Amino acid sequence: MILICIASLLACSAAEFSIVVPKAPVSAFLGSSVILPCNLSPSINARTFEVRWYKNGEHEKPVLFYKEKKNTGQSQDRDRVSLIGELDNRNVSLKLDHLTMADSGEYTCFVKSLSWYEKGSMNLAVKVLGSTPLLLYHESVEKMNVTCRSFGWSPKPTLTWRDSTGRELPNTHTKYTTDSEGLVNVSSWLLFSPSDSEWISCTVGLNLQEIKESRIVPMKGFWMEAFISTLVLSLIVIITYTVLLILFRKGLLPHCSSHKNAKAADSSHESLPAETMPLNAIENTTQGHFYIFFQSTNYTYKTAIAGGVEV
Ligand SMILES: *[C@@H]1O[C@H](CO)[C@@H](O)[C@H](O)[C@H]1NC(C)=O
Ligand SMILES: *[C@@H]1O[C@H](CO)[C@@H](O)[C@H](O)[C@H]1NC(C)=O
Ligand SMILES: *[C@@H]1O[C@H](CO)[C@@H](O)[C@H](O)[C@H]1NC(C)=O
Repeated sequence: MILICIASLLACSAAEFSIVVPKAPVSAFLGSSVILPCNLSPSINARTFEVRWYKNGEHEKPVLFYKEKKNTGQSQDRDRVSLIGELDNRNVSLKLDHLTMADSGEYTCFVKSLSWYEKGSMNLAVKVLGSTPLLLYHESVEKMNVTCRSFGWSPKPTLTWRDSTGRELPNTHTKYTTDSEGLVNVSSWLLFSPSDSEWISCTVGLNLQEIKESRIVPMKGFWMEAFISTLVLSLIVIITYTVLLILFRKGLLPHCSSHKNAKAADSSHESLPAETMPLNAIENTTQGHFYIFFQSTNYTYKTAIAGGVEV
């Protein structure tokens, strides 16, 4: 028993310090600065120690090499890396400035005293927010084939489809491509019937906060209503005009005929802004990355009716 105790005591005293690094990956935006934490435990003065920071293993030149109380920075871009922690208070954290895509990877913090060394590793992910998703559609048999595309993400984002109730729709047709720099494009398509949901959204993001979203609103019902109300309005205008014309021809309205005609013409003009408005609305919303689609057949009907009013 006594021997075991002495042996373990010796083992303990031999371990001068251990290294504490984060278990979760560290992440920061492209172009920003990041601190890669590395601390000694227990708290001891590391000023006389040798501190090395390696990237992607120890076979290459260290990113930073601190020895004999001075920084003998090793990497080509040494002005971007610095030991930021208080060395005399166990902190050998590394600061990296102006992050580039090439900076992502595994970093190892290596600390050596005269009689002991320890190391710890962590991953650095360089974040880039990609483009706002672009939604495109084409009509498939009875359904809409909606495609969502977003470019230039880092690291690999997740893509989620949702309907207007917030329910997640399966994203089984999602494809990723990565360029040489490590930026990721994502594209996904989905079959969707406009009667199922008021709208569907496509969200691309790195986590729950860093996201970009677009929605697509099927306007089928709206266009049918617009078409019917335009038809009713046009019929009223045409009938009024015809009645006035007949009365005028019969000489029943000798004095106020021109006035009434002008009024009829006015009301036919008044109906025009109401018809052009939905088109304006589409342009505006499109600028806000908010896409609206509609049945092309209804659109054709609408144009035909607009022509009829002018006649
Ligand atoms: C080590 O130093 C860095 C930079 O000053 C700081 O962010 C970090 O909190 C310090 N760690 C500890 C454990 O004090
Ligand atoms: C939907 O569109 C995508 C391209 O945008 C295509 O690859 C896919 O095959 C289409 N799906 C169907 C069922 O038409
Ligand atoms: C990602 O999308 C952009 C924009 O369309 C394109 O220029 C680039 O080539 C794409 N990259 C890959 C790896 O597909």
